[in-house]
Amino acid sequence: MCGIIGYIGKNVEENLFEGLKRLEYRGYDSAGMTVMRNGNFDTYKSVGEVDNLKAKLKFNEEFGYGIAHTRWATHGKITIENCHPHFSSNGNIAIVHNGIIDNFEDLKIQLQAKDKCFVSQTDSEVVAKLLDKLNVNNLRRVLKQIKGSYALVLLSKEKDCLYFAKNKSPLYVGKGDDCVMVASDPSCFAGKIDRYYQLKDGEYGKISLKSLVFYDKNDEIIEKTQESLDFNFISEDKSGYDHFMIKEIYQSRIALENIIAKFQTPELESKLKELKKLMFDRIYLVGCGTAYHAGLIGQSYIRAECNIDTFCEVASEFKEKNFVIDENSLCIFISQSGETADTLSALEYCKQKNAHIIAITNTEYSTIAKKADINFPTCAGQEKAVASTKAYFAQCVMLYLIISYLKGKNNVEKLKLFKNQIDFGDDKALKNLAEIVSKYDKIFFIGRGIDYITAEEASLKLKEITYIFSSALPSGELKHGTLALVDESVLVIVIATDEKLFNKTLNNAYEIKSRGGKLVLFTQLNVDREVAKNFEMVFKVGLTQQDFYPMQIILPLQKLAYFTAVKKGINPDKPRNLAKSVTVE
Ligand code: AGP
Repeated sequence: MCGIIGYIGKNVEENLFEGLKRLEYRGYDSAGMTVMRNGNFDTYKSVGEVDNLKAKLKFNEEFGYGIAHTRWATHGKITIENCHPHFSSNGNIAIVHNGIIDNFEDLKIQLQAKDKCFVSQTDSEVVAKLLDKLNVNNLRRVLKQIKGSYALVLLSKEKDCLYFAKNKSPLYVGKGDDCVMVASDPSCFAGKIDRYYQLKDGEYGKISLKSLVFYDKNDEIIEKTQESLDFNFISEDKSGYDHFMIKEIYQSRIALENIIAKFQTPELESKLKELKKLMFDRIYLVGCGTAYHAGLIGQSYIRAECNIDTFCEVASEFKEKNFVIDENSLCIFISQSGETADTLSALEYCKQKNAHIIAITNTEYSTIAKKADINFPTCAGQEKAVASTKAYFAQCVMLYLIISYLKGKNNVEKLKLFKNQIDFGDDKALKNLAEIVSKYDKIFFIGRGIDYITAEEASLKLKEITYIFSSALPSGELKHGTLALVDESVLVIVIATDEKLFNKTLNNAYEIKSRGGKLVLFTQLNVDREVAKNFEMVFKVGLTQQDFYPMQIILPLQKLAYFTAVKKGINPDKPRNLAKSVTVE
């Protein structure tokens, strides 16, 4: 994680600050910037959100060179000392880094033996301390010494260029007529530069206003092809909502419209035809967090529709599971950002085993999208809130449509109907419930079948933005251990959308009630009055077609997490300790 950016041109501070704002989704523990003019460095650092840096900046319209960083702490506490940029011992070179230098401890010991002093606890500082003079040869030497993942931008008091290098962390280079930029994400280029180069692992180089040189991992000079920036500029506008999260929940309907439109394009049809031609006898779905939950929904669709072995696994565990993966495997990688390191690493593992690689991403230029044989875009539009909402909805819809297509069904018409049936849930009732939820410090979500997957996702959403301990369980599992935790201090949210499992789920809910636990029910089924009496609240959503129950019922549950965070005074867009894009394993 962490976002890095380098800039050459006029208005350096302003352009770097604007870039940092766009990269803030990669971490917001601290931010820092170094600007060079006439051989002098000006450095600014602040702890917390990028906005905290603004007050410290001395904006200057003059031409200059600069690098900046927004941090998600991996090594070392959230302090000014650990803010990037970090400096060479002679203070002439400044660096910003995204990734993890795995062998930093060994290097640090060696450098300290040579009397190099460290001011931070970060792994990144070793890169700066390995340098005294910046040129291509020295950068190359450093890259051969460091192991791990890195995107680096380096600035020297003595040079009129920026140096950069990439391994396993994303990095993009853009060159305009009067400015150049290097950044973790090409969204930083929007409005300034309309073409960019995407670096591959092992590549490095240098860029000035007049020249640009790329080297590959074998140290050969290479020509790279530019891509045009087809980027819908991220609106900073919350469109009247208090937070991006709530705006994005409501944008699920737009995501659905986009997917329906996309499904009718020749481009998508040809991807589907390509997919249909593939021969495979096993399917794997892989993702992290919310994307993994979308994979579980996809898995249950595949198992219901196709007679084919299907497994869904969290990306960080995938390689440890010794799955049988070969040219007969179809591996589907799901990622909103398309940059998640665990997912990317699992993808590369499957690639080595010659599996067919499909990606479902919300970012078409991302590494995962590019590395896949076929990428299906989720068309949800950029998510700014850390908690994934509309992307999850869109991932589930995309999986549903792909699987339907493979079974020879065109369910676009069904989706059009669903678009008009979507029920986001009554705000007043959800706010009342949020008030109740905010008073608990232990919450369980339970469900059976596909509702258990929704329980997992609802629980993740709640814990990540409200900091309330929560856990999801298949309803039937409670009595095998967790019931021991149930007393009057526990609230259990029961999710029951499947009519045929309803009574069994109710029985499990009553087992909780008998032990003093409080119950809330989320359903779209009619619940008779006697049953309803057992619950603190029955939250009912409008009826939809059964295929879409998981996409429907998650919406009010996302809103419940949102209202609870707001009730607790937490900014749901930027929960503590998290980042939107997780680019370290
Ligand atoms: C979602 O609310 C989470 N913030 C997180 O679990 C996220 O889904 C996960 O990190 C995967 O990210 P990706 O979809 O960008 O790969």
